[in-house]
Amino acid sequence: MSINAFLFDLDGVIVDTAIYHYQAWKRLANELGFDISEEFNEGLKGVSRTDSLDLILAHGGLSLPEEKKTELATQKNEWYLELVSRMTSNDILPGVPAFFAQVRQAGLKTALGSVSKNAPMILARIGMTDAFDAIIDGNKISKGKPDPEVFTKGAEELGVSAAECVVFEDAVAGVEAGKRAGMFVVGIGTPDVLTKADMVALSLEKLTVEEILKQAAA
Ligand code: BG6
Ligand code: MG
Repeated sequence: MSINAFLFDLDGVIVDTAIYHYQAWKRLANELGFDISEEFNEGLKGVSRTDSLDLILAHGGLSLPEEKKTELATQKNEWYLELVSRMTSNDILPGVPAFFAQVRQAGLKTALGSVSKNAPMILARIGMTDAFDAIIDGNKISKGKPDPEVFTKGAEELGVSAAECVVFEDAVAGVEAGKRAGMFVVGIGTPDVLTKADMVALSLEKLTVEEILKQAAA
């Protein structure tokens, strides 16, 4: 079966918001009296807001009532929104516009597959809402990555099967979600972290559509 659709994660693939999620979570952990490292943060990438908070609290040895957790998640999101409020199309990651031009040229369908509830706002800020034929975000799904729901729904909305899809992901949980959905996964990062990806590159700037289609068909 040939590849007919590319499904993109947002944070860390299209735009460098992964660093802002990390900074906001780190600030929250610090206020609670402990710290989180960059290595620990790898396990938070692609994970929903509530699941991330649970992982962070467990890391700090804290168990809090639901009400307090809702308050903390809201606080983190407010800090995150402050950090992203000045973002513009200048914050799109290197190589993204050129890569999307190639994707269109090749006649492939595109979907966003992000568990972020802020994804529509971020896409609007960077002027990329129209770059996607389907947008699946945190408001449309009930299970975050590594559950495959976000990508399975993306394929469904595009009207293609899993075998026709390539997923682009910077997160360990996201790579797993793509594989569990039965898709070819391109890891954006390093092979030592994204061990389950079918191929890995440092950014979309380092990739061509032609090379990916060749690898996916191999
Ligand atoms: C993912 C990020 O894209 O979205 C995670 O990689 C984040 O770090 C998740 O927790 C949920 O985002 P939001 O914007 O709904 O808090
Ligand atoms: Mg990501």
